[in-house]
Amino acid sequence: MMEIRIRDSSADRVKSDLVAIPVRDKELDGATLRALDRRLKGELRTRMGKSKFTGAEGSVLLHPTAGLLPAAYLLFIGVGAGETSGDTWRKTGAKARKEAAAIGANEFALQLTTEKNFEAAAGAIVEGAALAGYQFNKYRSNGKPVAEPKSLTLFRTGLKKTAALQKAVDLAQTTAPGVFLARDLVNEPPSVATAKYLAAQAQRVCQGRGLSVEVWNKKKIAAMNLAGLLAVNRGSLEEPRFIRIHYRPAGKARKHVALIGKGITFDSGGLSLKPSKSMETMKLDMAGGAAVIATMSCLPKLGLDIEVTGYVPTTDNLPGHNAQKPGDVIRYMNGKTIEVLNTDAEGRLILADALALAALQKPDYMINLATLTGAFMTALGTQVAGIFSNNQPLADRLLQSSQDAGEKLWQLPLVKEYKELIKSSVADMKNIGGAHGGAITAALILQEFVGDTAWAHLDIAGPAFAESESLLGPKGGTGFGVRTLIKFLTGL
Ligand code: BES
Ligand code: MN
Ligand code: ZN
Repeated sequence: MMEIRIRDSSADRVKSDLVAIPVRDKELDGATLRALDRRLKGELRTRMGKSKFTGAEGSVLLHPTAGLLPAAYLLFIGVGAGETSGDTWRKTGAKARKEAAAIGANEFALQLTTEKNFEAAAGAIVEGAALAGYQFNKYRSNGKPVAEPKSLTLFRTGLKKTAALQKAVDLAQTTAPGVFLARDLVNEPPSVATAKYLAAQAQRVCQGRGLSVEVWNKKKIAAMNLAGLLAVNRGSLEEPRFIRIHYRPAGKARKHVALIGKGITFDSGGLSLKPSKSMETMKLDMAGGAAVIATMSCLPKLGLDIEVTGYVPTTDNLPGHNAQKPGDVIRYMNGKTIEVLNTDAEGRLILADALALAALQKPDYMINLATLTGAFMTALGTQVAGIFSNNQPLADRLLQSSQDAGEKLWQLPLVKEYKELIKSSVADMKNIGGAHGGAITAALILQEFVGDTAWAHLDIAGPAFAESESLLGPKGGTGFGVRTLIKFLTGL
């Protein structure tokens, strides 16, 4: 983890390998830039005049100081016009980190602005800088580790190390390792990251102050009547696991939240087999479970006075000789039955068990995360997750949390008329709907298992896995959901 330092200093005085300075669009005549230009004998102004750099969001200008300043390099980062959003600050931190790594910097610095909410900006900058450093190289034989900066100094003239600033920085420093853990779990190859492996990792990372982990094996799962998990697991040689993680605060809990994550460690589709192209990334199908485990692992550090229970039903979905068949009916612990017409609609089958079980505890809120439907991705693309909820105040809180966290979330309706589409001729419902609205019919099935508990379902099929590299991380698992959940829990 990068060390974060806070300093009362100015850009022309900070000694660092690289000093990053956010610049607002078309504001190239501020006090900082003038002071630097004077020290650089007018070279900066000349360089800016010749370059296309205006301060437009995302644009950068790297300038070596040739010994005229304590900083070896200056990096100007455009943050655009208008109020700078948390997302822009996150990207600014990431950009600075990447440029610092590219010049082989051991440490770098970034100038904070004087805006009203600069603590939140600082938190976003630190988070972005940390997230940009993620790598998954354990399976590369030529994985020459790139030198990464060890520390980041946040500075500004008159900057004080206030409690609010420290808190924002600490929160970012707690969140980033959680996101990395979720990414690691998703990126691990599926023959390694089995249900057993996920459970072992949960036991490894969820420890200390108030956290405990319980892992149920197949026998216990059968005894507890988790019929959906058993049904999906039938086609596999790997045993399923049901992971339950519990966080109990030291004092009295103000609220109880249940987090439920889909933990399909590989989704082949089962007998309703997927085409091979669609299977290429199906190790991602435990991203919801990974986000829940990762979020739970952060709770002792966050020290919140909220009780949180995490539930991760986990298995792979394979077409082995004993696999469940289209036409099979599953009878759940709450008495409801589902006719399985497509074994590739397996997420809802295992989440149904977990939701029904979680609802028995009567938590204040129940939130599930799942890479549930390709249909949602068709609708909103790969960057946006969906939220469905039976409780608008809960949905509003999650929407706000996701915005603060820089994770895109968009609400879709639970259209009750579409319940027609999941009617079965033999059971209470079937596990697939019609040709259209697949993300909604999937959510409607989940809703049958939550009773009257305030509940939200996040369909993270799109953003859980990045098909290409971005500023905040490489191709692969993104850890989507961890940041939103931590924001939600800390703001509750
Ligand atoms: N895990 C998939 C959904 C998915 C697809 C996640 C692509 C990420 C990327 C899920 O289990 C699934 O297969 N859903 C089916 C449902 C259908 C059979 C009703 C789908 O979306 O095609
Ligand atoms: Mn599937
Ligand atoms: Zn799936």
